[in-house]
Amino acid sequence: MKVGIIGGSGYVGLVTGAGLARKGHEVVCMDIEAEKIRLLQRGHSPIHEQGLTELIREGLRAERLFFTTELAEAVRDREVVFIAVGTPAAEDGNADLNAVLTAARELAPHLRGYTVVALKSTVPPGSSHLVKQVISRHLGPAGAEFDVVANPEFLREGTAVRDFFYPDRIVLGVSTPKAHRVMLRLYSGFGAPMVVTDPATAELTKYAANAFLALKISFINEMARLCEAVGANIHDLRHGLGTDRRIGLGHLHAGIGFGGPCLHKDLLALMRTAERYGCPSKLLADVLAVNDDQIEFLVQQLQKMIGRPLQGKVVALWGLAFKAGTSDTRNAPSLRIIRRLAGEGVRLAVYDPLVKVLPPEYEALVRHGEDPYQVARGAEALVLVTEWPEFGEVDFFRLREEMARPCVIDGRNLLLPAVMERCGFQYAGWGISGRPTAGCPEAQVLYGSVSA
Ligand SMILES: NC(=O)c1ccc[n+]([C@@H]2O[C@H](COP(=O)([O-])OP(=O)(O)OC[C@H]3O[C@@H](n4cnc5c(N)ncnc54)[C@H](O)[C@@H]3O)[C@@H](O)[C@H]2O)c1
Repeated sequence: MKVGIIGGSGYVGLVTGAGLARKGHEVVCMDIEAEKIRLLQRGHSPIHEQGLTELIREGLRAERLFFTTELAEAVRDREVVFIAVGTPAAEDGNADLNAVLTAARELAPHLRGYTVVALKSTVPPGSSHLVKQVISRHLGPAGAEFDVVANPEFLREGTAVRDFFYPDRIVLGVSTPKAHRVMLRLYSGFGAPMVVTDPATAELTKYAANAFLALKISFINEMARLCEAVGANIHDLRHGLGTDRRIGLGHLHAGIGFGGPCLHKDLLALMRTAERYGCPSKLLADVLAVNDDQIEFLVQQLQKMIGRPLQGKVVALWGLAFKAGTSDTRNAPSLRIIRRLAGEGVRLAVYDPLVKVLPPEYEALVRHGEDPYQVARGAEALVLVTEWPEFGEVDFFRLREEMARPCVIDGRNLLLPAVMERCGFQYAGWGISGRPTAGCPEAQVLYGSVSA
């Protein structure tokens, strides 16, 4: 089929475009970012995602994938046009729909024949209807037939390509049988369950999914605090909890909390939507509050380890990306940590395998290290912020030699406490200080075997 993607050099638009081209469709990715489009035309990806560059090059070679800054090329004669532009949080927390509505307005005059306009961007319920109205008002003089479909995206950065080809489900919010048939044809061959519903339900489903994931993270973080207090172990608790099929193990990792481009802003947008419809959420504000608390918990841990005040102390951060496998730092915990610690007068050294530059306001607050050892040179504490696997593979004896004090706070519970202690570190994670009850040798034996 012939497909156009508006926002086609972004995370969602690019992965969708390159993926659909691999599936045999002819795809034109359009974006207003001319530099990114130039890079893509030469076969270079502007974002880091495993397998994405290969997919782009394959699409270009096969002449099934095209990149342009010309909107008309991504709309004219296309059977499906995706809108995959950003929907950041507006100042009041609502989703800022400006980019979506601009795309709708500008694509309208280029529509010919029958087209499905599919909303991939995460948008509040009612947005598909709004987009339909905007398009209707801006059609060309000859008019055109079109339908708007809500088709929210669930891919995760870091595993976006895999998620595209093997989605857990495809959600379609359709309002006409014709649009339904077109979308079924587009997604035939994915083998994923289809949830076909009305547009408002599809739009709300995306927010509900993100809210629930955030809820799981904040829940396990509360349990981690309790583990610390009662001397229990969060890893074993997670297994005991998450192996229950009704609960599941995913998104039950205790640590410094969630970040990234979506969860926080989608939670806010859902809260504002709920308020607007007279059903304010009691739960979601607490999910965000617990998440914010994690940074305070980190500051307390630091103070416990290296003493107060933190002013003038050198602290190294391992990891800047909001999660492993991506170079995305949008709303990353690292940025919140930098802001918070710099406010305490801490001197920060940072290292990330992929992220070498931060937004300018953060650049002024840090110095970049070249590798995991060099960044820790002279540091009084090291905080593991992103769960990059390479951090689990460093030579910890060498690391200890580099540091002024061997203190590590593991914001992702990635490292093994026993190994860290053996290497001479003072080590703290989230909810892992628990040991079996004193005077219970059986528990000691059991604890060892469970954790092995
Ligand atoms: N990033 C994720 O992991 C993810 C996952 C699921 C859903 N989403 C949702 O998908 C949407 C896009 O997110 P993203 O992370 O891909 O954003 P992004 O910022 O990476 O990409 C958006 C792209 O849209 C382009 N754009 C903006 N206005 C445009 C216009 N008028 N015409 C053409 N291009 C335009 C931008 O230049 C940018 O390249 C958001 O609503 C987001 O919430 C994101």
